[in-house]
Amino acid sequence: MKRIVVDANDPSSEDLMPAAEALREGQVVAFPTETVYGLGANALDAKAVGRIFEAKGRPPTNPLIVHVASLDDVSSVVREWPDCAQQLAERFWPGPLTLVLRKNALIPGIVTAELDTVGVRIPRHPVARRLIELAGVPVAAPSANRYMGVSPTTAEHVLKGLSNEIDWVVDSGPTEVGLESTVLSLVGRPRVLRLGMISVDTLKEVLPELDPYYDEVTEGVAASSPGQARRHYAPEAKVIIGDPELRKAFNSPRVGVVGFSRLEGGGLCRVMPTDPDGYARELYDALHMMDEAGCEYIIVDPPPTTAKWQAIWDRLRRATESES
Ligand code: TXA
Ligand code: MG
Repeated sequence: MKRIVVDANDPSSEDLMPAAEALREGQVVAFPTETVYGLGANALDAKAVGRIFEAKGRPPTNPLIVHVASLDDVSSVVREWPDCAQQLAERFWPGPLTLVLRKNALIPGIVTAELDTVGVRIPRHPVARRLIELAGVPVAAPSANRYMGVSPTTAEHVLKGLSNEIDWVVDSGPTEVGLESTVLSLVGRPRVLRLGMISVDTLKEVLPELDPYYDEVTEGVAASSPGQARRHYAPEAKVIIGDPELRKAFNSPRVGVVGFSRLEGGGLCRVMPTDPDGYARELYDALHMMDEAGCEYIIVDPPPTTAKWQAIWDRLRRATESES
């Protein structure tokens, strides 16, 4: 496994070129996006994409997101481009919004779990965009973690889970947004399939007819949108969203706290930012840190319940689901 460290804001093309060539040649490359680190492969190469599923231990029924560097490149990924897609792209791309559209025949079925639709986005992270541009191919990339685990927001998180399975990691430090992109289906009635830091309310400024997001998902539907699997984004430790009083009862080395104030009497505690953007940026790092410390339980102080915290609540709830 090769690691290259590049500047997050101004990555040198020379430094990135070997990783871009590796992508083109069918290798798997972990790289930063503004949301989380992705595990990329050439989206036109079914064999390379197969290696992503293998590396993650991801079931083949879970479709991947295809990343492109510019609007011109979207036409190689989708076969329909409705007006509303154009409007959304103009407002939110490059950025943390994935659009699900009818798939172009150039994209092999393995990428989309044999669905007739494909998720596509233009990331805004300078490293992601430069890498994809240099590779010259669309890049299929799920989050660079093992299946069901917490997404990585640093190269260290990636290596903790996947160092033996991948060919390259491009490291440019922590990511900016910290939660995965909002996923919006434009096939049929527009629907949000996964909440993200671009909120439903913000999307409604462009798509007033957008349906509210449905949290309750029946079995089977989950397969077409795995971000909706009830337990997802979960650390090893058991997560409890607790009343602050609960923290006192749990003051032991096996317990970590992700909260808004320090623990009295010590104990492992991560004090989180009180604004939603800052909180989202640090949440996964806090969960990774608690796992790393060997915690059995993570107690999370409940954040505010206003609209801006909706995606954060979504991930916290999923992290509390027990495996069953
Ligand atoms: O922010 C992100 O989206 C990150 C970075 C790397 O771009 N990627 C990511 O990928 O989170 P992944 O594979 O962990 O999640 C992909 C999500 C799935 O949960 C699924 O809901 C949705 O994208 N998705 C992809 N293709 C789809 C399709 N054809 N139909 C429905 N949902 C799809
Ligand atoms: Mg993921």
